Amino acid sequence: MKALVLAGGSGTRLRPLTHTMAKQLVPVANKPILHFVMDQIAGTGITDIGVIISPETGNQIRQSLGGGEKWGAKITYILQDKPAGLAHAVKTAQPFLREDPFLMFLGDNLIQGGVKQVVDQFGAESPQAVILLKEVANPRAFGVAVVDDDLRVLKLVEKPKDPPSNLALVGIYVFSPEIHRAIERIKPSWRGELEITDAIQELLHMDRRVLARKLTGWWLDTGKKDDILEANRVVLDEYATAGSLGEADESSVISGRVQIGTGTKVTASTIRGPVVIGDNCEIKNAFIGPYTAIGSNTCLSGAAVEHSVILENCRIDCAVRLEDSLIGTGARVARRNSSLKSLRLFLGDDAEVIM
Ligand code: TTP
Repeated sequence: MKALVLAGGSGTRLRPLTHTMAKQLVPVANKPILHFVMDQIAGTGITDIGVIISPETGNQIRQSLGGGEKWGAKITYILQDKPAGLAHAVKTAQPFLREDPFLMFLGDNLIQGGVKQVVDQFGAESPQAVILLKEVANPRAFGVAVVDDDLRVLKLVEKPKDPPSNLALVGIYVFSPEIHRAIERIKPSWRGELEITDAIQELLHMDRRVLARKLTGWWLDTGKKDDILEANRVVLDEYATAGSLGEADESSVISGRVQIGTGTKVTASTIRGPVVIGDNCEIKNAFIGPYTAIGSNTCLSGAAVEHSVILENCRIDCAVRLEDSLIGTGARVARRNSSLKSLRLFLGDDAEVIM
């Protein structure tokens, strides 16, 4: 079996960050989302992996994943000239996929527990597709599936006004090559995209067997700022461990699961985990509260930060309280004479805020 990772797209909902960076490379707990995806694929034993890239961010993705050695895999990069839909990405990848079954994984989605079971189910039951479903509170915002008691898929509806179920399609699927025949038969949707939901529905019209699997653990779709913060919270909650390779002085108080990278210096600060701090950071007279990730080479002086993601090379140099913030690489926050005390920021790379 092969894998196809979708790391193209335009990421408009994550602007301004995605003006300069691929959304799949935004880090949660200081690790790019796409690397979690690769870990999960590696966990299935699949080694032949195609990665869909866009002309805008393809080079960043290539640099980040390389040839796939880190995952014991061989990566083939596939350029999709425009973000014309998930089924368009599969069509573009057909020369790579050929007539092999494949695991398709959206490069900005993460699930608890990995994807081995869904791949094994496909192997054991040989349907034309297995899709993952998750019960959600707001099915109107998703592609939704209707299934029978044996979890055979009967119908799919995209963003239904009147949802026939609360089972949303998660961005992880296993397909037989029959999906290519279905994609040949569908037309672009009202938004001009070739939709994978329509292609799976077409498999059903063709009387092919599509099975579902219900996901009980968490599912993170990191398309927007608050989704990134939530992913950071959930991943820190699950994976953060305590451990320091840096230095903290005696007046600093560090409690809970706090991970501090090599060369990082903590002075007169309080840190309450779960928190992860990268390498060569300087943390001075600061408070860092739970669910915060700070990238390498960032300086934090005088600030209180909580439930936030701060990328690499930032300088936050003032007595300000930051909550629920997502701050791009190289950004700077400083204060001259403002009395502002508490902020929620969403800053792109190299942004400058002076209050
Ligand atoms: P989406 O989040 O649905 O689309 P997008 O990346 O264009 O984002 P936005 O809606 O904010 O503009 O895409 C899901 C994943 O699939 C994501 O990792 C990008 C990838 N993708 C492709 O590789 N090719 C495509 O044509 C599309 C639409 C998405």
